[in-house]
Amino acid sequence: MIGIDFGTSNTVVTHRGLHGIELVRLDPLSEGLPTLLYVDHKHQIRIGHEARRAYGEAARNAGAGRAPFRLFQALKLALKDPGIVSTNLFGTQVRLEKIVAWYLAALREKIQSAVPGWDGAAIVGRPVELSPDAAVDRQLQSRFEEAFHLAGFTSVSFVFEPVAAAVELVGSVEGKVLVFDFGGGTLDVSAAELTQGGITVPVSVGRDLGGYLLDEDLARLRIQSHFGHGGRLKTLAGQNLEVPHEVTGQVVRFKVLPFEEIRRIKRLIPELIVEAVDKEKLRGLLSFLEKNLTYDLYQVLDEAKIRLSTESSALVAFSVPPHVELREKVTVPEFEAIIAPRVEEAQNLVLQALEKAGWTTDQVEHVIRVGGSSQVPAFVALLEGLFPGRLTAGNLFDGIALGLIPASERGLGVSSL
Ligand SMILES: Nc1ncnc2c1ncn2[C@@H]1O[C@H](COP(=O)(O)OP(=O)(O)OP(=O)(O)O)[C@@H](O)[C@H]1O
Ligand SMILES: [Mg+2]
Repeated sequence: MIGIDFGTSNTVVTHRGLHGIELVRLDPLSEGLPTLLYVDHKHQIRIGHEARRAYGEAARNAGAGRAPFRLFQALKLALKDPGIVSTNLFGTQVRLEKIVAWYLAALREKIQSAVPGWDGAAIVGRPVELSPDAAVDRQLQSRFEEAFHLAGFTSVSFVFEPVAAAVELVGSVEGKVLVFDFGGGTLDVSAAELTQGGITVPVSVGRDLGGYLLDEDLARLRIQSHFGHGGRLKTLAGQNLEVPHEVTGQVVRFKVLPFEEIRRIKRLIPELIVEAVDKEKLRGLLSFLEKNLTYDLYQVLDEAKIRLSTESSALVAFSVPPHVELREKVTVPEFEAIIAPRVEEAQNLVLQALEKAGWTTDQVEHVIRVGGSSQVPAFVALLEGLFPGRLTAGNLFDGIALGLIPASERGLGVSSL
């Protein structure tokens, strides 16, 4: 039995070792792995840090024209999107479950070499809400299950991610506890009652709000215009039009897999360049898409966002030579203005959890924040404001993985379909 926190950004695995629940080391560089999958036209598969390295090399060597590789990020968000069914990969249509299974099969091999004798069974974390519609939610959980089975896992059961994080706290806090799990893809909140050795979790709520959205917000406000967004077209018939948003939107979408749409848009851009007032920006966009640079831009933005958690400003520098060279300095007040609606959404979710639990803010004794995005100061300030003096940072990146097996053993897993 092992626990898998299959996160939007990071995958963390645990097992029961000599000293209780322990992290499984999946790579010499880190215990967990970035949730990244690289596939090339020869069907070589790399995951985690190795995928990132392979992408770096392939992107450097790629010429113009169709790139012979793909890098998939945020696979979990794609799998929980009922609108994403399959993708064309080097000329063949492949179902998404199968693509996710390639990632999971490579993960399974890494686990097998790190945990000899493992029986192939896994307790997997899932967001509280895959869909607000219960029937769709069940279907989506089946997609996750299918991907694990295709990957050779012998059995899979699920635990809500914030419930696992709450169980990990047993023994360290007592009373009415709120867990705020803010990761790359989702924000999940649980209201839990902890005693010295026990726990009940009466309420869990969640929604699609995570670090990816913050990165996309930043890109929409500060990056898109460098690639022709808002630019004008003068058509041969004399019309004055705006560059279509679906075209420039390609530089602000990191969480959706780059599917057929990108190929269609790549074909469209040369026609738009003829009519564009500012041709260089669209040439930059075309080159950006041809060279498959989405992940490069994502990394630069994500790093800048992370710097803004500790510094007063951050520089986003990115270029697609010779067409686009951008240097955007983003200050904390600017960033906070951009993400203000997200902070409000988070507040609404916290209040919804309290209402469902029948608790007032004053009754909550401890608020534990986990997940990488829970470090963004605007969200810390939100929680400090609601629960003054009662907020603590938990085990930010490992708390969920560490709680999965104990949560399942305590009967706190998601009941089977
Ligand atoms: N210091 C920081 N400040 C702001 N954001 C951060 C910081 N460190 C990490 N992040 C963000 O945290 C996110 C990853 O967090 P985490 O590993 O908890 O997510 P995940 O578990 O993979 O996703 P999910 O649980 O939503 O599926 C990324 O979006 C990353 O940009
Ligand atoms: Mg997570």
